Amino acid sequence: MDSSADPVTPAEVDAYFVEKLLEPEPEMDAARRRAHEAGLPRIEVSEVQGKFLMLLAQIASAKRVLEIGTLGGYSTTWLARGVGADGHVVTCEFEPLHARVAADNLAAAGVEDRVDIRIGAALDTLDALLAEGGEPFDLIFIDADKENNAHYIQSAITLGHPGSVIVVDNVVRDGGVLRPGEPEDEAGRMLKGVRDGIDMLGSNPRLDATALQTVGVKGWDGFALAVVR
Ligand code: SAH
Ligand code: DHB
Ligand code: MG
Repeated sequence: MDSSADPVTPAEVDAYFVEKLLEPEPEMDAARRRAHEAGLPRIEVSEVQGKFLMLLAQIASAKRVLEIGTLGGYSTTWLARGVGADGHVVTCEFEPLHARVAADNLAAAGVEDRVDIRIGAALDTLDALLAEGGEPFDLIFIDADKENNAHYIQSAITLGHPGSVIVVDNVVRDGGVLRPGEPEDEAGRMLKGVRDGIDMLGSNPRLDATALQTVGVKGWDGFALAVVR
């Protein structure tokens, strides 16, 4: 233990938890590197958050997971582990490059057989899933364009069942949720979307929701968590 008076950072504490609680994951580390080298934004969930999602899927006994926002497939891989070999993950991504990188990463992790990457605007994919009338989803992870969070939450209720778990990423954004700023600029639109999502979680009678702030290697942010009644 370092006894110097230097302030400890949230990133250092995350590194400590990774070392103590997570298995070494050379393949997962390589997947993150591949995504960064392909020029994808470095906004995937952190390692401890990824494992948190896996454990949440296990706690919910989730066999069918819907993810909105694939990026390089990092959170997808954790969710795919969480559902187990007989589970299934549908993940929505509209950037073909992101979907390609994710497909490679999911194959490298050996979970490609249980993941279906749907390329296209998530709003359209969600309509298509509804029209297909497949089995409901047990857990829905919302992590794409925040402008559409309220719509995604509504779809999650429709595509879920009583007891389904909804997780919404990035609901704090350095406290920006309370200072959304101008709706004309990108950040303002994003934060308005986050607030609209929170309003939906709080007002929809089919949902029971809370939210937790997080600090760590990704700074100050948070997840909202809801259960469908
Ligand atoms: N869940 C990922 C991070 C997702 S980042 C992880 O933690 O590893 C958000 C992703 O959503 C980006 O890849 C972006 O291209 C995608 N996205 C943004 N808007 C979208 C939309 N309307 N439909 C589908 N995907 C979208
Ligand atoms: C951003 C998006 C995310 O999903 C995230 O986890 C972090 C940042 C972003 O668009 O800035
Ligand atoms: Mg996110």
